[in-house]
Amino acid sequence: MAYETINVEVQDHVCLIKLNRPEALNALNSELLTELCAALEEADASDKVRCIILTGSEKAFAAGADIKEMSEMSFVDVFTNNLFADTNDRIAAIRKPIIAAVAGYALGGGCEVAMMCDFIIAADTAKFGQPEINLGVIAGMGGSQRLTRFVGKSKSMDMNLTGRFMNAEEAERAGLVSRVVPAKKLLDEATAAAQKIAEKSLLTAMAAKEAVNRSYELPLSEGMLFERRVFHSMFATEDQKEGMAAFLEKREAQFRDK
Ligand code: CAA
Repeated sequence: MAYETINVEVQDHVCLIKLNRPEALNALNSELLTELCAALEEADASDKVRCIILTGSEKAFAAGADIKEMSEMSFVDVFTNNLFADTNDRIAAIRKPIIAAVAGYALGGGCEVAMMCDFIIAADTAKFGQPEINLGVIAGMGGSQRLTRFVGKSKSMDMNLTGRFMNAEEAERAGLVSRVVPAKKLLDEATAAAQKIAEKSLLTAMAAKEAVNRSYELPLSEGMLFERRVFHSMFATEDQKEGMAAFLEKREAQFRDK
């Protein structure tokens, strides 16, 4: 499918989605969010894709929801259209692993979309923030919820109440990002991580994603039960037989997603 506000490329089973509204620092307008969800769903359904990378430009992953587009909306507009609910639900429903590769600004909805991905690799130039308070609103796509689960109450309150930005080093210390790399190497590192994931059994990778995500929704005993049942169910797959046989035979596993 042809898109106006994003670029999509598939190479070696990795789908790279690049947000592309440079004139607005990749601000997330409705067109971009619709295209992003469609591209993610297309990648999720494609046999050629085993892992997805979402990235922006050197200057901005995304500087937030599009303020120009939102500025004239009324309560009735946003409530009736349930603004951002669709984006959150559609990205959360993607079953293949998604890596956010973040350089520059990831603010407001930009930080929130990065947090909807499965993990974040940050360039040393990355800046994360929930500055919605400066606009007379609060976060609307997870900045008060997902961010709090990532970094804890104190730092989340700090980010949401002062609107200050967190640099990459602080974001890594706080557990928001999994690793920080030099800006010039961001895409290489993200691609190497995506290729590592793409070599695994897709079935197992999807199950692992599902299990980790349940930990955000369930009490520990229920989460442990869910994990154990999924673990047990893996023994019904050919990939479990192959993975364990390959270890014992001291060779690389050839997974077949079965
Ligand atoms: N929406 C619309 N346009 C935006 C934008 C946004 N979120 N962020 C930047 N832009 C536009 C600017 O208006 C500017 O356009 P013009 O050249 O036409 O004036 C262009 O992008 C470049 O931006 P700046 O000139 O401001 O660039 P800068 O380097 O001086 O500053 C910045 C960069 C600090 C990121 C600054 O642009 C900024 O503060 N942006 C807004 C950040 C923000 O408040 N995000 C939260 C949005 S609300 C939200 O996301 C709600 C939610 O939870 C879902």
